[in-house]
Amino acid sequence: MGEPTGFIHRFEPATAPGLSPLLLLHGTGGDENDLLPLGRAVLPGAALLSPRGRVLEGSMPRFFRRLSEGVFDEADLTRRTHELADFIAEARTRYGLPAPMALGFSNGANIAAALLLLRPEALAGAVLLRAMAPFAKAPEARLSGKPVLLLSGRLDPIIPADNAAGLAATLERAGADVEHHVLPAGHGLSQADIGLVEKWLQGRRVQAV
Ligand code: MLT
Repeated sequence: MGEPTGFIHRFEPATAPGLSPLLLLHGTGGDENDLLPLGRAVLPGAALLSPRGRVLEGSMPRFFRRLSEGVFDEADLTRRTHELADFIAEARTRYGLPAPMALGFSNGANIAAALLLLRPEALAGAVLLRAMAPFAKAPEARLSGKPVLLLSGRLDPIIPADNAAGLAATLERAGADVEHHVLPAGHGLSQADIGLVEKWLQGRRVQAV
């Protein structure tokens, strides 16, 4: 795919009408190919837009810099969040898409949460898989009714339970319609995650196209 937007990405057009496009955001060390099978599985027929994070940690792509595990370079995070929001706007024009639903895992879920807080217009909502609070002090945001599914792992060694609960509370305070489940899982995804995402997205099949 050409890169006028500055993000290497994959795009798969919709093959069924009436579905929200999915913006697939991979975890650390992933790329634009990683979440395509997940996207196809949880919302068959939806358009898939899947960028590769532009930051490298060693050889591992990420969406923003971190100072250590779970400690983020917030200036870089802010800059990268705006870049990603601009990419989404350009891709929507280029491919003729409504605002997408983010489906992010780990580092990708964290930048999806940052998008909700800094550029809420970029997303129709978000599925956040193993997300943590992206900012130490959350920016004020107006998320009036935006749907968010947050799935955390009770045994996740990277994300403390109170951090994920704090993110859910921040998004709720901003007006988002948040569903938060804590699963008997670690940082990796389980079959239960996939089932919950599928069910949650099916309840939203009538997003405008
Ligand atoms: C992050 O850096 O975004 C989180 O620590 C999750 C990760 O990517 O390991």
